[in-house]
Amino acid sequence: MAERGFIENWEAESYRQSVASSKVSGRLTGKVVMITGAAQGFGLGIAQALITEGAQLILADLNLDGAQANADAMCAEYGAGRAVAIRMDVSDEGSALAAVAEAVAVFGGVDVFVSNAGVLRAGSIFSQPVSDFDLVTNVNYRGYFLGVRAVAPVMAAQHAVRPTEWFDIIEINSESGLGVSGSRPALPARSSGPASGSPSPFALELVECGIKVNAVCGQLPRRPLWMDPERGLFVQYLRAGKVRVR
Ligand SMILES: NC(=O)c1ccc[n+]([C@@H]2O[C@H](COP(=O)([O-])OP(=O)(O)OC[C@H]3O[C@@H](n4cnc5c(N)ncnc54)[C@H](O)[C@@H]3O)[C@@H](O)[C@H]2O)c1
Repeated sequence: MAERGFIENWEAESYRQSVASSKVSGRLTGKVVMITGAAQGFGLGIAQALITEGAQLILADLNLDGAQANADAMCAEYGAGRAVAIRMDVSDEGSALAAVAEAVAVFGGVDVFVSNAGVLRAGSIFSQPVSDFDLVTNVNYRGYFLGVRAVAPVMAAQHAVRPTEWFDIIEINSESGLGVSGSRPALPARSSGPASGSPSPFALELVECGIKVNAVCGQLPRRPLWMDPERGLFVQYLRAGKVRVR
């Protein structure tokens, strides 16, 4: 009980609770949500939706300038301290651990972790460079593992001191995670692992620690991942001869 009292009253927890009781309202009031790949696209959209529900946000991205600009805009609209930007390379263990540690230092914990950062390279299995496979595997698959590995101990510790509270890990996957893709042989690098629409390898272990693990599988082509004129998937398909010209 003494340890529990200490944890509930320590400086960071007091700060976190005082922030949580500020003027915001919504389903996520007082919840700290860390989103990877939040400089643009899905990650930014998820962040914009969750902050309206009262969440405190950590926008983690390789692109710190982009994440910082988003955090600044959100703080201007929703109040100082509601969003912070952190540089994080999800494919690097040290970077993932440092980013989660920084998030804990700022907000006192992490309640929801959205593993969203991802890259995609289109091509043919006959010609796609191994470097494409390695890139996608490192960011989408290894990055998911490293992010979960960094944040799960924090959530498990939170659950240990507040056993009635549950925490969430949400992986942003793809509809390709549920089936096959004829034009993205590198993508199953993610889909064949913890993803494949089912995060169960983590879920079964982490549910014992008060952590729910889920995946969202979808497709939204009107995003930079598809539309970017230099690196977007539409251009990649065109260059790879995947588009039939009638
Ligand atoms: N757009 C779609 O139709 C679609 C469909 C299914 C799944 N997804 C998945 O959703 C996620 C987001 O897609 P999006 O369309 O928003 O992509 P996007 O390219 O617009 O954004 C990806 C973000 O991830 C960041 N990022 C890339 N590598 C990183 C790394 N190593 N560490 C940290 N951040 C990194 C980028 O800087 C960028 O901000 C991806 O995992 C993608 O595979 C997208």
